[in-house]
Amino acid sequence: MSFRVLVVDDEPAIRAQLAESLEEAGFAAEVAADGNEALRLAESGAFDLCLSDIRMPSMSGLELLRRLGDVSPETSLILMTAFGGLETAVEALRLGAIDYLIKPFAHDELIAKVRRIADQRRVVRENRNLRRIADTATARQMIASSRAMLDVLEIVDRVASLPSHVLITGESGTGKDVVASAIHKRGNRSNAPFVPINCAAIPEALLESELFGHVKGAFTGAHESKEGLLKTAADGTIFLDELGDMPLAIQAKLLRAIESREIQPVGSTRRIPIQARVLAATNRDLRADIAAGRFREDLYYRLAVVEIRVPPLRERREDIPLLANHFVQKYARELGRPVRGIAREALRLLSGHSWPGNVRELSNAIERAVIFASGEEIEARDLPDLVRAASPRDPEFSRNLREAKIEFERAHILQVIADCGGNKRKAAKLLGLGVTSLYRKLGSPNSGAEPESL
Ligand SMILES: Nc1ncnc2c1ncn2[C@@H]1O[C@H](COP(=O)(O)OP(=O)(O)O)[C@@H](O)[C@H]1O
Ligand SMILES: [Mg+2]
Repeated sequence: MSFRVLVVDDEPAIRAQLAESLEEAGFAAEVAADGNEALRLAESGAFDLCLSDIRMPSMSGLELLRRLGDVSPETSLILMTAFGGLETAVEALRLGAIDYLIKPFAHDELIAKVRRIADQRRVVRENRNLRRIADTATARQMIASSRAMLDVLEIVDRVASLPSHVLITGESGTGKDVVASAIHKRGNRSNAPFVPINCAAIPEALLESELFGHVKGAFTGAHESKEGLLKTAADGTIFLDELGDMPLAIQAKLLRAIESREIQPVGSTRRIPIQARVLAATNRDLRADIAAGRFREDLYYRLAVVEIRVPPLRERREDIPLLANHFVQKYARELGRPVRGIAREALRLLSGHSWPGNVRELSNAIERAVIFASGEEIEARDLPDLVRAASPRDPEFSRNLREAKIEFERAHILQVIADCGGNKRKAAKLLGLGVTSLYRKLGSPNSGAEPESL
């Protein structure tokens, strides 16, 4: 993609010469006779750079500089000013111009400046792309070290390449979205679309046309026909999030679509074949909803061919130190803060909290702590009050000495595991325990497995 320059000068000969020099040097150039024409071109043109004279009849270069920022903030500007206009040049830099040229100038000088700006642009763009790739990689990363989550991962791997529909259940914030995208990514449909839709967030009529599509004129406001997401997902995956909140009428239509592998857009008599695999998630107890007549039993059995239950965080506290450290790295990088780790006492509090909002709550607490932290480590005082107050007021807190000893032992073991970066063999050695008894004391069966990430 070539670097695009817009040349603005009221002198036809000058703007033509400048454009010619730029094109000879390998840039794409267009010309405008004044500020208004320049703004019009910039609106549609996606220019990287604007080279503008300062003194022009209808709009000054400074005014153009100001208005260009609104129309096309990505366009940098170099101002050309006559000899003696140094003060205006300085003013231009203050207003955001990237550079200036004093007339008359050698075209070589101009080309050198433009080339330097083009190089900077390229580096910034490349970095931005790299960052985006890194972000999606971490967005998909799934941290798991507890036996319970390793079991979840094992099922994910086993079902990923099968065509079976999967129902993912678990409290809010436990990582159901993460599990769904892991199933998609690890399966043989990973190059096909992954299409998520939140069934709770959309009114019934809209949800119907989102899922199945509609034809033009199907209802007031249907100016165009629209393809249903079940079709858009092609041979990929459709992820029905918050399935438990889907209205009964749509449940019926969805069941028919899944069984016949066909959908009928709203207002159409035509049936369209679909191939997408269906993943669904809910934080509701669907069996209770079935009993109460709020959810169709036949749809439940269709979708729950495989059911994956993502356990709440309080049932897998061993994951807390690793997750917390993962979020520290993530937010420190994103927010550009020099935070590297978590102090001992803070980690003890994190490990003891009951996390009713699960991993999402932990993630938010760490984000906040990364912002508040004054040093390289997150301290107890950087944590939300609820987390700090948790220990004694935790509903699970026990006054019984034997239980308190077990709790203390557990917290101590978790701390040492965290100090060892999650390495349980090393932690067991420091604690003077065998790996098996370490797992027993944590209340989960021995796996000896190392933390895993996707
Ligand atoms: N095992 C995990 N590893 C890393 N991040 C996780 C994990 N589980 C959850 N998260 C993060 O926690 C947040 C909540 O997870 P999400 O999948 O949206 O929960 P749910 O869909 O169950 O409400 C998301 O930001 C997600 O990236
Ligand atoms: Mg979710």
